[in-house]
Amino acid sequence: MDNQKVKKAVLPVAGYGTRFLPATKATPKEMLPIIDKPLVQYAVEEAAQIGIKDIIFITSHTKESIEKHFNRSYELEDKLITSKKNTYLEKINPDLFKDLTFTFINQEEQLGLGHAISLAKNEIQDEPFAVLLPDDLFFSEPSCMSQLLNVYNQYKSSVIAVNKIDKANIHKYGVISSKDNASPYKIDFIVEKPHAKDAPSNIAVCGRYILSSNIFEHLENVKKDDSGEIQLTDAIQSLLEKEAVMACLYEGEKYDCGSKKGFVEATIKLALNDDSLKKDITSFIREIVE
Ligand code: UTP
Repeated sequence: MDNQKVKKAVLPVAGYGTRFLPATKATPKEMLPIIDKPLVQYAVEEAAQIGIKDIIFITSHTKESIEKHFNRSYELEDKLITSKKNTYLEKINPDLFKDLTFTFINQEEQLGLGHAISLAKNEIQDEPFAVLLPDDLFFSEPSCMSQLLNVYNQYKSSVIAVNKIDKANIHKYGVISSKDNASPYKIDFIVEKPHAKDAPSNIAVCGRYILSSNIFEHLENVKKDDSGEIQLTDAIQSLLEKEAVMACLYEGEKYDCGSKKGFVEATIKLALNDDSLKKDITSFIREIVE
């Protein structure tokens, strides 16, 4: 991975989004908006901001609205021009999209995150690449991807974002173990969704990664878990037995928008960060909690 630039990002968006049913019955979880922008666009912007040009979606036949969102809509553009609503043109077709290439790969069967990533092998070839799970939303300056890129540039190895989680919730995440007591940690061991009593630490994986392309051979060799899914965590464990994998403690705010709690919290937080909404929403919240 010596001096290889990270130019491509894989965004797996083929999951069922069960925790958000019935909203996700006909609408992809990744298209749910936080205020006025779908979750998936926040992830694309975060990837683009570190210089990534190629966005590879792992998608499914039920999620064509994601593809539509990143394609131009000439009909809507014409409509906005004739009705003199030109300010919206930048919103529906931002300059940022023009610099990016979007590729869509179909995951026919939802066999897990690891399986989804494995489908990007031919697109990625032998370059290091980023992975962003769009339902995890990160707000910080520098961004989460930018924090990972710093570690990648320093160590020239795979690096995954982690944060500290209380024991009561640790069973929902991949959890790492390391002899290092400060970030970046060299990972000794990683385990998917351990019972709280077996968790090797309180340091859990969150949805941003930079991975060596060697991950693909490990993804081919890991076995399905008890629920029939191929876990990315198992492939990372296999990878770190051969080469260093670092973990970067993310500094900033993180919202799990695949859960109702995280989604609502992110919406409130972004509303309060938005100058056009802040005043009204603050007084509304005061009014309803008093
Ligand atoms: P999650 O487990 O968080 O998403 O997967 P999910 O399966 O959609 O949600 P629930 O648990 O049923 O509520 C993490 C990421 O991996 C993608 C998801 O779209 C999400 O971005 N994924 C998961 C796939 O692309 N394919 C899969 O087979 C599984």
